[in-house]
Amino acid sequence: MARVTVVNDNVTFEVTDGEYLLPYFKEKTSMLFGCEKGECGICVCTILKGVENLNEKSQKEIETLHSKGAHPEQRLACLLKIKWGEVEIEY
Ligand code: FES
Repeated sequence: MARVTVVNDNVTFEVTDGEYLLPYFKEKTSMLFGCEKGECGICVCTILKGVENLNEKSQKEIETLHSKGAHPEQRLACLLKIKWGEVEIEY
């Protein structure tokens, strides 16, 4: 099991290794989502810890983040998939 903490909502939850985080974010946090496909950029978030435990950015994610002027440590929450371990996120 992996563990995800979302600091804004002061919530930590367990996730099976290899799962996408979007359903958990929608159920357990107040994060906002739009397209849920990595296109609109509304779900930009910052990885505070455990970036190495997440999937690599896809080309689409890189392009959307670039169009939003995001920082290198930022990700699109709707595309995050955890490999294992712990991750801490701020949005
Ligand atoms: S919800 Fe649109 S990019 Fe994540």
